[in-house]
Parts: sequence; structure tokens; C-alpha cells
Amino acid sequence: MTKTHPGHCCVFGLMWGDEGKGKVVDLLAGAYDCVVRYNGGANAGHTVWIGPEKFALHLLPAGILRTGVVAVIGPGVVVDPPTLRSEIAALQARGIAVAEHLRLSNRAHLVMPYHKAEDRLSEARMGDERKIGTTTRGIGPCYADKARRSTGVRFDDVLHEPNLEDRVLRILEDRRSALAALGGADDPGLDRAEVLASVRIARDELSQYVCDTTRYLFDAARQGRRLLFEGANGMLLDLDHGTYPFVTSSSTGPGGIAGGAGVPPTMLRRTLGVTKAYSTRVGGGPFVTELADETGDRIRKQGNEYGTTTGRPRRCGWFDAVACGYSARLGGATDLAIMHVDTLAGFERVGMCVAYECRGRKIEDPPAGVAELSRCRPVIEYLPGWGEEVRSAASRESLPDQAQRYIEAIERRTGVAATILSVGPERSQTLLSEPWRSCVAAGEPTS
Ligand code: GDP
Ligand code: IMO
Ligand code: MG
Repeated sequence: MTKTHPGHCCVFGLMWGDEGKGKVVDLLAGAYDCVVRYNGGANAGHTVWIGPEKFALHLLPAGILRTGVVAVIGPGVVVDPPTLRSEIAALQARGIAVAEHLRLSNRAHLVMPYHKAEDRLSEARMGDERKIGTTTRGIGPCYADKARRSTGVRFDDVLHEPNLEDRVLRILEDRRSALAALGGADDPGLDRAEVLASVRIARDELSQYVCDTTRYLFDAARQGRRLLFEGANGMLLDLDHGTYPFVTSSSTGPGGIAGGAGVPPTMLRRTLGVTKAYSTRVGGGPFVTELADETGDRIRKQGNEYGTTTGRPRRCGWFDAVACGYSARLGGATDLAIMHVDTLAGFERVGMCVAYECRGRKIEDPPAGVAELSRCRPVIEYLPGWGEEVRSAASRESLPDQAQRYIEAIERRTGVAATILSVGPERSQTLLSEPWRSCVAAGEPTS
């Protein structure tokens, strides 16, 4: 590794997902050899713009768009075979060489059609008030089967387990009555042919990518190759530390890498927490700084805040320094990337939540449970807004003074330096500080 290179790094979301991780990973990938997904599945939607072309990635790591970068789907990712197949085909149709650069862990679990059925049906059963608002990609039920063990299905089983089809059909039959009771007797996810097709796709079309990625990454690191980890979802959706039960089912921060990629925590040199300059959330659950008014609508419109995976309108609110400070601490963020600085342009004043008020007390850490969280009111401090468009800014110093003061306030409140600022969706609309500036410039020769 050269002296100036920041070393193995994790890019992870500090909020409820959709912070702009895809853009950051794509940008840094030019300076790395492998980009590794370690958690989540097709619930993720990571957007990358390359010039006028938009890519929305769900299961494939964003590094797949860079020539010379190996994209690794680690053991902690739950993989829906038909979805991965279509994603690969769609990229190939756009001229991206996937086959040479993709590695898929033999330890990764398969999302089966009955997982997606259970996700859909249990959400419908809970109704609008209580449902989690999942992406219905089968994530929770698949991780539940993984933890249950006897009902988990891994790519290694697809390659080596005799009579896997029989076991899978037995699992399906065991699920049938429970899912029929949820009103899903005719759900396509309970169709035997669909279930067998998933296994077939995994075996016939995806096994060419399957290997022991744990060993692969160990060898790669030993040979001096640089690893970039691409977190999915966000710290506040973390199974243990997020706004439970309105969370996803994996460890979303750098802490998830040890389990989800099999790479020990001592190897990480840098942890880059990504946040927007405001907050968004998609799906249910408490959101202390939510603006269910014209200001929230204006942020949604200016930021084009609609889900990459489901198209749902995202809930919008002011920046929450309490929540972001908490996640930065949890993830041990060494750096911040603050995205969508352009989206706040034109607001006369910009709010920032600096504490919560709960039952007449001021608190500076988010409570663990939704009952208390729902009682929290944000203590908002307003800073002067910036009128000018900043999308063509060339450096942090050239941003309007008010934008610079706002960014400094985020740094002060979270205790972490913002070494990446984003002023638009495109690669070029990014203001990099060291250590990224020199390493990205040095490793740029890509697509
Ligand atoms: P991810 O899941 O964290 O990768 O984020 P998503 O791709 O789901 O959502 C982020 C959205 O914001 C995408 O549409 C990006 O193209 C867009 N985006 C990223 N950075 C910026 C920025 O600085 N300004 C604006 N206006 N859009 C951005
Ligand atoms: P990226 O990687 C935004 C949310 C869902 C729901 C909850 C549980 O694009 O940032 P799940 O389907 O995982 O069981 O849903 O988590 N969620 C996300 N929200 N971005 C994501 O991923 C998300 N992944 C899950 O909306 O509230
Ligand atoms: Mg997303």
C-alpha cells in the first residue's frame, strides 16, 4: 500500500438508508481493488450516475461498474437468485463486463420465493399502523431461516447438498399452512415450480461466480490489494442498534464486516459514515425530525426523494445531530461524507436537531425503544440558509459562507470531520479532501 492510500475502508450509512452510499462507493472504487457487500440484500438500492447514465444497484456491489475492480458479495448478504440474475443481465446488456469481476460467497444464503411471500403477507396482516414498511424483498424471513439453521439454504448447499430440492420442498410444505392462514394460499411464492426455479437459477446460472470469498479476501489483502466495504441500509436500521423493531435484519455498520465478510475488524483503516445534509426515512417507524408539512415536501421535491428500490416517497426532515452523532459513534466513523448540500439551497434558514426533549427532559442520546422515541420532540437550532446554487462549486472553500458554517456545525455536533461533500448526484459534483483527493485522482482511469 502506498503511504498516502487510506487503506481498507468501510462506507456505511449513518441514517435510515439512501444517504448516497452508492455514489461514494463508486467514486472511491477507482482507488480500490475489491468492493465488498457484507449485509442486506435486494432491499438496498444504490444509485450511481456516470455522466448521463443512471445505474441502480441492488445486489451487485457498486464496484462492478469500474473496470479492474473485483465485486464481492459476502457471506452476510442474502441473495435472491432471479433478482441477481436479472441485475447481471441488465448490466451486461449495457456493456458492463460482469462475469470476470464478480465473486459470490458460498456461505451466502438464498432468499426463496416463500420468504418474499411471508414478507408481503405478514406486512399486510399487520396493517398500516403496525407494519414495518419493509421492501418486501424477503429479507427478514430469510435471515430468520438463517438463524434457525435447519431451514437455511446456502450457495454451498446448492453446489453440494444431495437432494437439496427435497429439503426445500419440505420447508415449503411446512410454511404453506402458516402462510395460507395469513391469506396467502394462492401466493406465487408458494408455487413449487417457482421455488425449484430459484434453486435451478442458483445452480445453473450463478454457480459460476460462487467461491470461498472469505479466503479470496484474505489472500487479496495479504497481497496488498485494497478492500472497500459497501454497507447497505443504514446504522439506524441496524438490527441491534437501530429503531427496533422498525429496522432491517442485519448488522449494517462496520461492525457487520467481521461476520458478513469474514474480514477481521483489525484490518479496517478508515470508516466513512455517509449522511445527507438533512434526514430521510422510507417505511414506518419513529422519525423525530420529520417535517410532515410544506418544508418536508420542498426537501422531497428539491432532493428528488423517492425510493430507489420501491419508488416510495421518502419522509423528509431536518438534520438530526442526535441520531447522527449516535451512529457515528457506533460505527466509529473516522470521516463523514455529507451529501445533498445542493438540495438545501434556497432555504432562508436551515434547521438542525441538537437534542431531544422527552417527558420534559432534554436528552442527547436516542432512547432504545419506539415508545420513548415517539415521545421525543426535536430541539431545533436554525442556521442561516444559502441562496445560491452550489452544484458547480469546485471546493469546500468556494461554497457560500452559510453552507460552510452549516457543515462545520455538523462536524462539531458529530465530532467527525467531513472529508467528502457532495453537491449533486454526479461523480464530478463532489468536493474531496485528503486522504481521498489524492488517492481518487491517482486511481481514476475507469469507465
Ligand atoms: P444509497 O442507497 O445510500 O446508495 O442512496 P440512494 O441511491 O438510494 O439515494 C440517494 C439519491 O441521491 C440518489 O438518487 C442519488 O443519485 C442522489 N444523490 C447522491 N448524492 C447527491 C447529492 O449530493 N445531491 C443530489 N441532488 N442528489 C444526490
Ligand atoms: P439502501 O442500501 C432505505 C428499510 C425499509 C423498512 C426497513 C425494513 O438503499 O440504503 P427490509 O426490507 O430490510 O426488511 O425493510 O428498512 N430499508 C431501507 N430504507 N434504504 C435501504 O437500503 C433500506 N433497506 C431497508 O424501508 O423500513
Ligand atoms: Mg438506497
